[in-house]
Amino acid sequence: MIGRLNHVAIAVPDLDAAIILYRDTLGADVGAPQDEPDHGVTVVFITLPNTKIELLYPLGDNSPIKGFLDKNPSGGIHHICYEVDDILVARDHLLASGARVLGDGNPKTGAHGKPVLFLHPKDFNGTLVELEQV
Ligand code: CO
Repeated sequence: MIGRLNHVAIAVPDLDAAIILYRDTLGADVGAPQDEPDHGVTVVFITLPNTKIELLYPLGDNSPIKGFLDKNPSGGIHHICYEVDDILVARDHLLASGARVLGDGNPKTGAHGKPVLFLHPKDFNGTLVELEQV
C-alpha cells in the first residue's frame, strides 16, 4: 500500500543553524524557508536525490511542534511521510486494521498542497507517520 518515502521531517530549535548545517556541512540542496501559518510551522525543504528532508521550526504560539522541541531541545526526527495512491482507501484499510488516524480522520492539505493524514505513533513503533496522496 505505501509507496516511496516522500520525506523525513526534522524539528529544529535553530532554523538558521540547521540551514547552514545541511547546506554547508552536508552540502545539500536547501530551499528557502516557507511559513505555513495553517500548520504552525516554518518549513525548509531539502532535496536529496531519492527523497526530501523537511526542517520544521515553530511558527506562532500554538505550533504543534513546540511541545516536541520542549521534550527534545536539540531537535529530532518528528515524522516520516510515505506516499500512497489513494489516501481514503489507505485510511479505510488502516482503520479496519486497528490503526488510529489522528484528528477527525479526514485528510488535510499538507505542506505540498496534497492531501495528508497522520497516524498515531503508538501504533507504528513510536514513529509519527504521515501519509501523502501523490
Ligand atoms: Co510532513
